[in-house]
Amino acid sequence: MTTLAKVISLAKRRGFIYPGSEIYGGLGGTWDYGPLGVELKNNIKKAFWHTMIYQRDDVFGIDSAILMNPKVWEASGHVKAFVDPLIECKICHERLRADQKDEIGDHEKSHSGQKVAWTEPRKFNLLVEAKVGVVEDQKTKVYLRGEITQGVHVNFKNVLDSSRVQIPFGIAQIGKAFRNEITPGNFTFRSREFEQMELQFYVRPEKEESKKWYEYWRQERLNWYLRLGINKKKLRFRQHRESERAHYAKDAWDIEYESPFSTIGGSASDGGWKEFEGIHDRGDWDLKQHQQYSGVDLSYYDQESGQHFLPWIIETSGGVDRAALFFLIDAYCESEGRIVLKLNPKLAPYKVAVFPLLANKPDLVKKAKDVYRLLSIDHRLLPIQWDDRGNIGKRYFAQDEIGTPYCVTVDFQTLEDDTVTIRDRDTTKQERVKSSTLVEIISKKIA
Ligand code: GAP
Repeated sequence: MTTLAKVISLAKRRGFIYPGSEIYGGLGGTWDYGPLGVELKNNIKKAFWHTMIYQRDDVFGIDSAILMNPKVWEASGHVKAFVDPLIECKICHERLRADQKDEIGDHEKSHSGQKVAWTEPRKFNLLVEAKVGVVEDQKTKVYLRGEITQGVHVNFKNVLDSSRVQIPFGIAQIGKAFRNEITPGNFTFRSREFEQMELQFYVRPEKEESKKWYEYWRQERLNWYLRLGINKKKLRFRQHRESERAHYAKDAWDIEYESPFSTIGGSASDGGWKEFEGIHDRGDWDLKQHQQYSGVDLSYYDQESGQHFLPWIIETSGGVDRAALFFLIDAYCESEGRIVLKLNPKLAPYKVAVFPLLANKPDLVKKAKDVYRLLSIDHRLLPIQWDDRGNIGKRYFAQDEIGTPYCVTVDFQTLEDDTVTIRDRDTTKQERVKSSTLVEIISKKIA
């Protein structure tokens, strides 16, 4: 089994990620997050919010609507330019992206013997359409947002006026985006519904200034992944060729992760390197377009120079689901028949698990419940897992494979001297400590 296949299996078995609407046969490109997956995703989002907003005084958060006036998407260029070139197999009519050479090759092989002919590439818009309104023939066609970005730019003036900030400053957002992806695949890597975490950073419209901030945010975002434990050797930057760049981008670099996809349905030509997050120089594209289409003046008044201008935008755009997937893949280890998810404790779904050594000894169970309650008081340690099934070895196994960094066991000695053992997921070493010091010790380890 490949690492990806093992991660997919673990994700399903332990409640990280399930196929969307599975009991009805699923819906391509949609995924549901189970009890552990939702914690992992929330932890990624919390870490993003913490770093990008709480630890700075020049970035604000917003939460804009998914449904927007359709003119937004005309202005942003997505109605016209948010397209993929598609080709169709003349034998079975399956459609593939014209730029995915390996998938095309695989498809041709699947028609063994028959010579496959393809149609000319045709452009296919990725925006997902929906209808709003109650009267059937008066419903308005809207789009589910194809990127969360536009909700920020249409609120640029609102945030500016209500926060009284000066540039450079940024607006960050996390939320769902939708794309009619032609070839969703590689598990959650390319989905039709996914979450993005983005920063739009507004700077003076000057080359040097924008270059400085571009470089700064590129490095910040790489460091964020490294601090959360992604293996440095598996990350790299890659600049987009001009032909690859989105319609809004003057420059674009991806932070890429060396994924195991090349061995399962992915492209072998890129050696498994896949986009993790995009850093884009959007220039004044968005504000200029929205100013023109809405007729509203979106310029910034610079008190220092007495000038009005449209700021330029540096964007960092990452996928929450993609991050969850790459954190899972990166953390997946096997040693001596044991699966261990070496997730950073900040991301681990459970921070601590508490066990009574034996489930059939009421004194031990009562004491372990007390310890469980004691730990639950501290929000930094939540959520905490309780487990009294099977033997202690099996419980350690079960916690290792979901990435729980610490397991606390209440045993017979606890009843005598109020000490418990803390077992470390990565070293498997145990230390014995007073139960009254547990909160402090574990929260320090996690921090
Ligand atoms: N606002 C800019 C923007 O949306 P993008 O490169 O199209 O840029 C940014 O997307 C990030 O969103 C990607 O790096 C990826 O992490 C995530 N993403 C994009 N499409 C995705 C999909 N179909 N499924 C999962 N994540 C996706």
